Amino acid sequence: MVGTAVLNLFESKGYTNIITRSSSELDLRNQQAVQEFMSKEQPDIIVLAAARVGGIVANDQNPYPFLYDNLLIQSNVINAAHEHDVEQLIFLGSSCIYPKHADQPLREDSLLTGPLEPTNQWYAIAKITGVKMVEALREQFERDYVSLMPTNLYGPNDNFDLETSHVLPAMIRKFHDAKQAGHTPVGLWGSGSPMREFLHVDDVASAVYFSLTNQMQHDLYNVGTGKDITIKHLAELIQNIVGHHGDIEWDTSKPDGTPRKLMDVSRMKDEGWEYSIELEDGVRKTYEWFLDNKDDIKEVKLSNNKP
Ligand SMILES: NC(=O)c1ccc[n+]([C@@H]2O[C@H](COP(=O)([O-])OP(=O)(O)OC[C@H]3O[C@@H](n4cnc5c(N)ncnc54)[C@H](OP(=O)(O)O)[C@@H]3O)[C@@H](O)[C@H]2O)c1
Repeated sequence: MVGTAVLNLFESKGYTNIITRSSSELDLRNQQAVQEFMSKEQPDIIVLAAARVGGIVANDQNPYPFLYDNLLIQSNVINAAHEHDVEQLIFLGSSCIYPKHADQPLREDSLLTGPLEPTNQWYAIAKITGVKMVEALREQFERDYVSLMPTNLYGPNDNFDLETSHVLPAMIRKFHDAKQAGHTPVGLWGSGSPMREFLHVDDVASAVYFSLTNQMQHDLYNVGTGKDITIKHLAELIQNIVGHHGDIEWDTSKPDGTPRKLMDVSRMKDEGWEYSIELEDGVRKTYEWFLDNKDDIKEVKLSNNKP
């Protein structure tokens, strides 16, 4: 999802010499393959948008691949970038790197000040390691490498598979399917009370572009809107956009996860970058994309030990 948005933005800015690889062409867990790729292609800039990504269920049921695959992917790429003198690198992590009970909104300096949310700690530990690699390379070798931590993302090319997806695309799929089935009730996890922040993927691409074309003062930046919404309000917003007229049933026996996760985005704002796509607008466009593409949409299965 993020990789495609970044690619589209750079193409729209007139960049032509962009090198991409799918996981089946280049398995980034394979150190030798990554080294060979770097030697052959000698890139000037790397945007590392590859990772094993998933929602609560996928994380909780697959601790080991979420830890190991992500450690391998990012260590291989960041280290090879350094060894091959790649001038600029953007490492993408996520807001789950911050402690579960850190003060809200989450500031960059709350990193490693308390325990993580247990359900996604595996993924978070891997991402924290990546952030520290970037920090160490900046400090010791003055590398122009930057870590960007986006909040929850959504948009075209999201994963809409109910087993492995994040909350927003899962809701789009559930409300759409229930509408098709004659406005049957939609069951959702938890109480609906947690608060979450959502950012359209095109805004992340814009933050990546900004970070590569401006002198960034820090090694780590939050990327979000700085605004949050309850899961219940999100459900109502999506229900309304999809046009579902049935009931919503909240399953309070299921976990809510972290009560609130709002990013402090002032560091990025101070550099001069802000988001531009409002949630309602972004969800409407994403649902249109879903309707146009639902027949060949990406579904990431738990059993996928890809590539
Ligand atoms: N989605 C979110 O809500 C969110 C929020 C915050 C941060 N992020 C961050 O943004 C980044 C991208 O996430 P996304 O949502 O764009 O995920 P995504 O759509 O699942 O894309 C991840 C990409 O990683 C590639 N990949 C996975 N394993 C690989 C391997 N072993 N070798 C090579 N490529 C591999 C996949 O390539 P193939 O398609 O070719 O298999 C896929 O295109 C991640 O670092 C994630 O932490 C995402």
